[in-house]
Amino acid sequence: MRLDWLTLAGFRSYGRLEWQPDPGVNVIVGRNGAGKTNLLEAVGYLGSLRSFRGAPDHALVGFDFERAYIRGQVTSGPSEALIELELRGRGGRQARINTQRLARTSDLLGHVRFVTFLPEDLDIIKRGPGYRRDFLDATAVQLWPGSHLDQADFERALRQRNAFLKQNDRDDVTLGVWDERMAHAGGKVMARRARTVDAIRDHVSSVHADISASDAAVEFDYLSGWKGELDARVSPAEFAQRLSEALSESRRRDRERRVTTVGPHRDEPILLLDGHDSRFHASQGEQRTLTLSLRVASHRAITDLIDRPPILLLDDVYSELDPKRSAALTLALPEAQTLVTTADPSDVPLEGVPWGITGGEVVRG
Ligand SMILES: Nc1ncnc2c1ncn2[C@@H]1O[C@H](COP(=O)(O)OP(=O)(O)OP(=O)(O)O)[C@@H](O)[C@H]1O
Ligand SMILES: [Mg+2]
Repeated sequence: MRLDWLTLAGFRSYGRLEWQPDPGVNVIVGRNGAGKTNLLEAVGYLGSLRSFRGAPDHALVGFDFERAYIRGQVTSGPSEALIELELRGRGGRQARINTQRLARTSDLLGHVRFVTFLPEDLDIIKRGPGYRRDFLDATAVQLWPGSHLDQADFERALRQRNAFLKQNDRDDVTLGVWDERMAHAGGKVMARRARTVDAIRDHVSSVHADISASDAAVEFDYLSGWKGELDARVSPAEFAQRLSEALSESRRRDRERRVTTVGPHRDEPILLLDGHDSRFHASQGEQRTLTLSLRVASHRAITDLIDRPPILLLDDVYSELDPKRSAALTLALPEAQTLVTTADPSDVPLEGVPWGITGGEVVRG
């Protein structure tokens, strides 16, 4: 899969940009604040409909603009697609594929698949369980784009149930309606998480063995207050049934605390390194190796599934790596269209087409 060209208008620091990346490796150089991350963020947006920095849509619209446009042509095997996205500063967005307007913007998902490597990826291991839930859910969207709708349904149902629990009049019948909606969507979210782990688990182990040159075992674990578990054979309906039971059981507590205390939003995915929770027991270097392994493994899993390598977006990651890990990452990186940014090209051990960003333009350097 590759991006043939990209144009941006009113997106972040780009008033107007036209860029034709190479189908292979692109090394994008620019000083701090030049717009390197902004450029990768635009490509990521086409593939996930959100900013990989977690920024809200309005932050993506240029300071002096009312709308931002991201357009690009993507080739995947024999098929080409022209993708167009319009983001409005005051909310709302519109998408087109091959000039046809989409009724649902989310139908765009799947046309651009990508995997990011970001300096803040270390958070996936180091910080709270929410970072690991987000990693699994975002990876699920790249594997199975339909996961996006299930996740959105789940979040909506959870918000509504929580809003209801905050009211004074909280009858059982209405709460039961929210329970069912949450359980239905939550069952799907859990099933995707289990399948995502199933899809990447073996890759994580083998990539980790390659990068770390150790035989330390990497395993996933999952703490859940409602019989959520990483068993890919359990159906979404079965998970929904389990969640539904747990929600009725937690009603009293939820009413007291005025919040939904059980469900996929509270679960704790854990990465074990040699049997120990890597969040608390692994060294900083081991944590970094684990994060790189997760990303490379996701790339391999998506490649297995769609039979083409997703686009690789590496934002300023090499400057954080010691020479050994930097060399190991380079060896582990798959063949794919790659956009790698850096402030200092001597940090990047990859051969590729050099680009420079200055004054909001990306020029071959
Ligand atoms: N909505 C926006 N409109 C205009 N400019 C913006 C907007 N959002 C961010 N910027 C500008 O973009 C610049 C940051 O761009 P970016 O994060 O891509 O830099 P970078 O090249 O990745 O830098 P670094 O090397 O520090 O990571 C900042 O100067 C910021 O002011
Ligand atoms: Mg940056």
